[in-house]
Amino acid sequence: MSSTGFEAARITDRVWWVGAIDWEIRDFHGYATSRGSTYNAYLVMADKVTLVDTVKAPFRDEMMARIASVVDPAKIDYIVSNHSEMDHSGSLPETITRVKPDKVFASPMGVKALGAHFGLDGIEPLKTGDELSLGNLTLKFLETRMLHWPDSMVSYLAEEKLLFSQDGFGMHLASGERFADELDPAVLRHEAAKYYANILLPYSGLITKLLATVKELGLEVDFLCPDHGPVWRKGFDILGWYADWAQQEPTMKAVVAYATMWHSTERMAHAIGDGLAAGGASPRLLPVPPAHRSDVMTELLEAGAFLVGSPTINNQVFPSMADLLCYARGLKPLNKVGQVFGSYGWSGEATKQLAAELEAMKVELVAEPIRVNYVPTDADLDRCRKLGLEVAAKMKERVA
Ligand code: FEO
Repeated sequence: MSSTGFEAARITDRVWWVGAIDWEIRDFHGYATSRGSTYNAYLVMADKVTLVDTVKAPFRDEMMARIASVVDPAKIDYIVSNHSEMDHSGSLPETITRVKPDKVFASPMGVKALGAHFGLDGIEPLKTGDELSLGNLTLKFLETRMLHWPDSMVSYLAEEKLLFSQDGFGMHLASGERFADELDPAVLRHEAAKYYANILLPYSGLITKLLATVKELGLEVDFLCPDHGPVWRKGFDILGWYADWAQQEPTMKAVVAYATMWHSTERMAHAIGDGLAAGGASPRLLPVPPAHRSDVMTELLEAGAFLVGSPTINNQVFPSMADLLCYARGLKPLNKVGQVFGSYGWSGEATKQLAAELEAMKVELVAEPIRVNYVPTDADLDRCRKLGLEVAAKMKERVA
C-alpha cells in the first residue's frame, strides 16, 4: 500500500496504469474540459522495468506513489516518452532525477523537443520500425508525426497485444474507472468526439493513413492505452469512430451558431432552424455564449452545414463569434455548406466578415447573406425560414 493513498491499476499481467486523475481541470488550452481529465502513464513490469510517459508536473507525486505501489521507483530501467507535450513530460526531468533510469527514449523529434523544453540531453532516439528489448518483452515503435505534435509516436507491446497510443484515442474524462467498458457509452462517444474535434480534426488525413498502417502491419491490439481517459479493451468502438470522423462525410445535421445583443439575430436563428427542420435537416442551434467554442466544434464534427449569425458591433462581428471562427478555422472542418446572417443598426459589416470567414474555411455558401435592420419583420423571418429550407435542400444533395 502506498503511503499517500494512491495505487496503480492493473491493465494486464505485466502492465499497470500509474497516471494521475485531474478532477479539477476545466480549461485545456481553450478547450472546455467539463469532465476533467487524466494524464496516463504506464509501468511495464518486464525484465527491464519501463515507464511509458509521465504526467503533468503538479501530479508527479501522485504518479510516483502509484509506481511505488507496484515497484520501488529506483528499479525503473527505462523511460519511454511517446509525446513531449508537457501534460505528459512535465514531470519527466524530476522523474529522471529521482529514478535515475539507465536510458530514456523518445522519437527523433521528441529528442529535440525534450531538449528544447527541459534542456534534457542523452535521450536516445527511436524511429519507426525500431524495437526495444525489455528482456522478456519487446516494445516496437511507430512515429505518428503531427498526431498531434511532430514528436508523437506510439509504442506496441506485442506480447500483451497492447498499444500505447499517447494522445490518439484519448479523451478528457476524469473517472475512477480505468476501462472504457466500465463507463457510460454515450459519455465515451461524446468525450471522444470532443477530443477528436478539438485536437485531431486538422490531421484527419493522417488518422486515415495511421489506421491503414496499423492494418497493414497486422498489429493485433487487445488493449489500447491512450494518455488521456480510459483504456480500451473488448470491442474497440473508438477505432470505427475515428475511421468515420476522419472522413468528415456530410450529414443532415446543421450547426447554427450565433451571437445576439437584443434578440434580433437570435430570432433569425430560430426561423432558420425551423426552416432547416422543415427541410429534413437536424438543426443544432448554439448561442455563443453560453455555448463554448469547443462544444460548437464537437457538434460540427458530424455536421453537414455550418451557419453563423452575428449582430454588428462597432463595425465588427460580435467578439464571441470572432473567437469561435478563429478557433474553427484552425481546426479545418471540411465538407460543409452554410450561410451567414445577422442584424445591424447602421453599418452592418458583420455578415460580410462572417461570409469571408466561412469562405476561408471552404464552406460552400448556399445563398446571399441575410441582413436585418434593427428588428426582423415577419417578412424577414420568412426569408430566414426559406434560407433554412434552401440549406437543407443543398445538404440533401450532398448526403444523397
Ligand atoms: Fe495530451 Fe498533446 O498532449
